[in-house]
Amino acid sequence: MKDLTKAIGRIVFSAEEIENRIKQLGREITNDYCRRGAAQDAKGRPILMVGILKGALVFMADLIRELDFPIECDFIAAASYGDGIVPGEVRILKDLNCSIAGRDVLIVEDIVDTGHTLKHIVKAFLARSPATLRVCPFLDKPYRREVELSTAYVGFVLLENLFVVGYGFDIGEKYRNLPYVGVLKSEYMPDQGLSTA
Ligand code: IMP
Repeated sequence: MKDLTKAIGRIVFSAEEIENRIKQLGREITNDYCRRGAAQDAKGRPILMVGILKGALVFMADLIRELDFPIECDFIAAASYGDGIVPGEVRILKDLNCSIAGRDVLIVEDIVDTGHTLKHIVKAFLARSPATLRVCPFLDKPYRREVELSTAYVGFVLLENLFVVGYGFDIGEKYRNLPYVGVLKSEYMPDQGLSTA
Protein backbone atom coordinates (compact mmCIF):
# COMPACT_ATOMS: atom_id res chain seq x y z
CA MET A 1 0.00 0.00 0.00
CA LYS A 2 3.04 2.26 0.48
CA ASP A 3 3.24 2.79 -3.26
CA LEU A 4 -0.32 4.15 -3.26
CA THR A 5 -0.28 6.15 -0.03
CA LYS A 6 2.81 8.12 -0.99
CA ALA A 7 0.79 9.66 -3.82
CA ILE A 8 -1.90 11.00 -1.47
CA GLY A 9 -1.51 14.63 -0.48
CA ARG A 10 -4.54 14.88 1.75
CA ILE A 11 -7.12 12.53 3.22
CA VAL A 12 -10.59 13.94 2.65
CA PHE A 13 -12.63 11.20 4.38
CA SER A 14 -10.77 8.81 6.67
CA ALA A 15 -11.56 5.09 6.89
CA GLU A 16 -13.06 5.71 10.33
CA GLU A 17 -15.28 8.58 9.14
CA ILE A 18 -16.46 6.44 6.24
CA GLU A 19 -17.20 3.49 8.51
CA ASN A 20 -19.22 5.66 10.90
CA ARG A 21 -21.16 7.34 8.11
CA ILE A 22 -22.02 4.06 6.45
CA LYS A 23 -23.31 2.65 9.72
CA GLN A 24 -25.61 5.71 10.01
CA LEU A 25 -26.68 5.38 6.41
CA GLY A 26 -27.42 1.68 6.91
CA ARG A 27 -29.63 2.49 9.90
CA GLU A 28 -31.41 5.24 7.97
CA ILE A 29 -32.11 3.01 4.98
CA THR A 30 -33.16 0.09 7.19
CA ASN A 31 -35.56 2.33 9.13
CA ASP A 32 -37.04 3.82 5.98
CA TYR A 33 -37.67 0.58 4.18
CA CYS A 34 -38.79 -1.37 7.22
CA ARG A 35 -41.01 1.44 8.54
CA ARG A 36 -42.76 1.69 5.22
CA GLY A 37 -43.37 -2.02 5.57
CA ALA A 38 -41.79 -2.19 2.15
CA ALA A 39 -38.64 -4.19 2.70
CA GLN A 40 -40.25 -6.41 0.06
CA ASP A 41 -42.56 -5.75 -2.86
CA ALA A 42 -46.13 -6.90 -3.48
CA LYS A 43 -44.85 -10.28 -4.67
CA GLY A 44 -42.68 -10.74 -1.58
CA ARG A 45 -39.43 -9.99 -3.40
CA PRO A 46 -36.76 -8.11 -1.42
CA ILE A 47 -35.32 -4.69 -2.30
CA LEU A 48 -32.95 -4.88 -5.24
CA MET A 49 -29.68 -3.05 -4.60
CA VAL A 50 -28.09 -2.07 -7.92
CA GLY A 51 -24.41 -1.16 -7.78
CA ILE A 52 -22.88 0.89 -10.55
CA LEU A 53 -19.52 -0.58 -11.46
CA LYS A 54 -16.81 -0.11 -10.92
CA GLY A 55 -16.74 2.90 -8.61
CA ALA A 56 -19.51 1.77 -6.24
CA LEU A 57 -17.88 -1.61 -5.61
CA VAL A 58 -16.37 -0.85 -2.20
CA PHE A 59 -19.24 1.36 -0.99
CA MET A 60 -21.84 -1.24 -1.98
CA ALA A 61 -19.95 -4.03 -0.18
CA ASP A 62 -19.83 -1.97 3.02
CA LEU A 63 -23.35 -0.57 2.79
CA ILE A 64 -25.21 -3.84 2.26
CA ARG A 65 -23.59 -5.26 5.39
CA GLU A 66 -25.20 -2.45 7.40
CA LEU A 67 -28.71 -3.19 6.12
CA ASP A 68 -30.78 -5.18 8.54
CA PHE A 69 -33.29 -6.66 6.10
CA PRO A 70 -33.11 -9.10 3.18
CA ILE A 71 -31.86 -7.68 -0.10
CA GLU A 72 -30.86 -8.84 -3.56
CA CYS A 73 -27.95 -7.39 -5.54
CA ASP A 74 -27.35 -6.72 -9.18
CA PHE A 75 -24.86 -4.55 -11.04
CA ILE A 76 -24.56 -2.43 -14.12
CA ALA A 77 -21.43 -0.95 -15.58
CA ALA A 78 -21.59 2.51 -17.08
CA ALA A 79 -18.87 4.52 -18.73
CA SER A 80 -19.28 8.25 -18.74
CA TYR A 81 -15.71 9.47 -18.82
CA GLY A 82 -14.11 8.11 -21.96
CA ASP A 83 -10.50 8.02 -20.78
CA GLY A 84 -11.17 8.10 -17.07
CA ILE A 85 -11.54 11.81 -16.47
CA VAL A 86 -12.98 13.87 -19.28
CA PRO A 87 -16.79 14.00 -19.23
CA GLY A 88 -18.28 12.32 -22.28
CA GLU A 89 -21.37 10.43 -23.22
CA VAL A 90 -22.91 7.80 -20.96
CA ARG A 91 -22.75 4.22 -22.16
CA ILE A 92 -24.15 1.11 -20.45
CA LEU A 93 -21.35 -1.45 -20.73
CA LYS A 94 -23.07 -4.17 -18.71
CA ASP A 95 -26.80 -4.26 -18.06
CA LEU A 96 -28.75 -5.82 -15.19
CA ASN A 97 -29.16 -9.59 -15.07
CA CYS A 98 -32.72 -9.33 -13.77
CA SER A 99 -35.94 -7.49 -14.58
CA ILE A 100 -36.81 -4.56 -12.31
CA ALA A 101 -40.49 -4.33 -13.31
CA GLY A 102 -42.55 -3.99 -10.13
CA ARG A 103 -39.49 -4.11 -7.89
CA ASP A 104 -38.22 -1.73 -5.24
CA VAL A 105 -34.83 -0.63 -6.50
CA LEU A 106 -32.08 1.28 -4.74
CA ILE A 107 -29.23 2.39 -6.99
CA VAL A 108 -25.83 2.59 -5.27
CA GLU A 109 -23.52 5.00 -7.07
CA ASP A 110 -20.02 6.20 -6.25
CA ILE A 111 -20.00 9.92 -7.05
CA VAL A 112 -22.54 12.33 -8.49
CA ASP A 113 -20.53 14.91 -10.33
CA THR A 114 -22.28 16.57 -13.31
CA GLY A 115 -25.14 14.12 -12.72
CA HIS A 116 -25.30 12.94 -16.34
CA THR A 117 -24.44 9.30 -15.55
CA LEU A 118 -27.03 8.85 -12.86
CA LYS A 119 -29.68 10.82 -14.76
CA HIS A 120 -29.18 8.56 -17.77
CA ILE A 121 -29.40 5.40 -15.65
CA VAL A 122 -32.45 6.63 -13.71
CA LYS A 123 -34.24 7.44 -16.98
CA ALA A 124 -33.42 4.02 -18.43
CA PHE A 125 -34.56 2.28 -15.23
CA LEU A 126 -37.83 4.24 -14.97
CA ALA A 127 -38.72 3.06 -18.46
CA ARG A 128 -38.63 -0.50 -17.05
CA SER A 129 -41.42 0.30 -14.52
CA PRO A 130 -39.92 -0.43 -11.10
CA ALA A 131 -42.34 -0.08 -8.13
CA THR A 132 -39.96 2.43 -6.53
CA LEU A 133 -36.58 3.78 -7.56
CA ARG A 134 -34.20 5.59 -5.25
CA VAL A 135 -30.55 6.54 -5.50
CA CYS A 136 -27.79 6.51 -2.95
CA PRO A 137 -24.43 7.97 -4.02
CA PHE A 138 -21.47 7.79 -1.67
CA LEU A 139 -20.39 11.30 -2.59
CA ASP A 140 -22.26 14.30 -3.94
CA LYS A 141 -20.47 17.23 -5.57
CA PRO A 142 -23.40 19.67 -5.83
CA TYR A 143 -21.36 22.57 -7.25
CA ARG A 144 -20.53 20.44 -10.31
CA ARG A 145 -24.11 19.55 -11.16
CA GLU A 146 -25.29 20.14 -14.73
CA VAL A 147 -28.61 18.30 -14.58
CA GLU A 148 -31.28 18.11 -11.91
CA LEU A 149 -31.29 14.92 -9.89
CA SER A 150 -32.88 13.87 -6.64
CA THR A 151 -30.97 11.61 -4.27
CA ALA A 152 -32.77 9.77 -1.48
CA TYR A 153 -29.56 9.13 0.50
CA VAL A 154 -26.06 10.62 0.31
CA GLY A 155 -22.93 9.42 2.09
CA PHE A 156 -20.97 12.68 2.02
CA VAL A 157 -21.32 16.06 0.36
CA LEU A 158 -18.09 17.52 -1.00
CA LEU A 159 -18.15 21.30 -1.15
CA GLU A 160 -14.62 21.75 -2.47
CA ASN A 161 -13.64 21.38 -6.09
CA LEU A 162 -11.55 18.22 -5.73
CA PHE A 163 -10.93 15.11 -7.77
CA VAL A 164 -10.78 12.30 -5.23
CA VAL A 165 -9.43 8.75 -5.28
CA GLY A 166 -9.61 5.73 -3.00
CA TYR A 167 -12.49 3.74 -1.49
CA GLY A 168 -13.39 2.46 -4.96
CA PHE A 169 -12.67 5.70 -6.82
CA ASP A 170 -9.93 5.67 -9.38
CA ILE A 171 -7.92 7.68 -11.76
CA GLY A 172 -6.82 5.58 -14.71
CA GLU A 173 -7.94 2.44 -12.76
CA LYS A 174 -5.51 3.15 -9.91
CA TYR A 175 -6.08 3.84 -6.18
CA ARG A 176 -9.44 2.03 -5.86
CA ASN A 177 -8.10 -0.14 -3.03
CA LEU A 178 -7.14 2.68 -0.69
CA PRO A 179 -9.31 2.40 2.44
CA TYR A 180 -9.98 6.17 2.56
CA VAL A 181 -10.86 8.98 0.15
CA GLY A 182 -8.05 11.37 -0.66
CA VAL A 183 -6.58 13.81 -3.13
CA LEU A 184 -3.43 13.11 -5.08
CA LYS A 185 -0.28 15.17 -4.75
CA SER A 186 0.11 17.29 -7.87
CA GLU A 187 3.14 15.31 -9.06
CA TYR A 188 1.05 12.11 -9.16
CA MET A 189 -1.87 13.69 -10.96
CA PRO A 190 -2.15 13.17 -14.71
CA ASP A 191 -2.04 16.61 -16.28
CA GLN A 192 -5.78 17.08 -16.86
CA GLY A 193 -6.41 20.33 -15.02
CA LEU A 194 -7.95 18.57 -12.00
CA SER A 195 -7.51 19.78 -8.42
CA THR A 196 -4.79 18.29 -6.24
CA ALA A 197 -3.64 18.65 -2.64
P1 IMP B 1 -21.12 12.44 -13.74
O1 IMP B 1 -21.86 11.84 -14.88
O2 IMP B 1 -20.40 13.70 -14.15
O3 IMP B 1 -21.98 12.67 -12.53
O4 IMP B 1 -19.94 11.48 -13.44
C1 IMP B 1 -19.99 10.58 -12.47
C2 IMP B 1 -18.83 9.62 -12.58
O5 IMP B 1 -17.59 10.29 -12.77
C3 IMP B 1 -18.74 8.92 -11.27
O6 IMP B 1 -19.56 7.77 -11.29
C4 IMP B 1 -17.27 8.65 -11.14
O7 IMP B 1 -16.98 7.39 -11.67
C5 IMP B 1 -16.59 9.74 -11.95
N1 IMP B 1 -16.06 10.79 -11.06
C6 IMP B 1 -16.55 12.01 -10.85
N2 IMP B 1 -15.81 12.71 -9.95
C7 IMP B 1 -14.83 11.87 -9.58
C8 IMP B 1 -13.74 11.97 -8.65
O8 IMP B 1 -13.52 12.98 -7.95
N3 IMP B 1 -12.95 10.87 -8.55
C9 IMP B 1 -13.13 9.73 -9.27
N4 IMP B 1 -14.13 9.60 -10.14
C10 IMP B 1 -14.98 10.64 -10.30
